[in-house]
Amino acid sequence: MKIKVSRKAHFNAAHRLYRADWSDEKNFEIFGKCSNPNYHGHNYELIVSVYGEIDPETGFVVDMKVLKKLIRDKVENALDHKNLNVEVPAFKNLNPTAENIAVVIWNILRPQISMTKDLEVVLYETSRNFVTYSG
Ligand code: NI
Repeated sequence: MKIKVSRKAHFNAAHRLYRADWSDEKNFEIFGKCSNPNYHGHNYELIVSVYGEIDPETGFVVDMKVLKKLIRDKVENALDHKNLNVEVPAFKNLNPTAENIAVVIWNILRPQISMTKDLEVVLYETSRNFVTYSG
């Protein structure tokens, strides 16, 4: 019997969506306000889910204390209150869209969770816009 367990987390971060090889006009046309050259922030909401068999000994799919600490140490500490473009190496040459941030988070967490379990990352950039990545 497989079941999905989820943990919510939160971080604030600044970003700018743009391509250096495009004009400011083209960047604004494609990325809108998110191309503001002076950056802007979002309150990101993150839901990390692990799907797998219930361990008959513990009754857990994953120890939530462990998952909580993993998200805090590897994701929140790396991204919270950061300028993603400037301070987070993963976005040095990668536009920090919600899509790309979700993939980066998944890639950080995947090696930390047993391969017998599936991992899913849902990232809300606003209360209405969210992306889901599961590898
Ligand atoms: Ni934005």
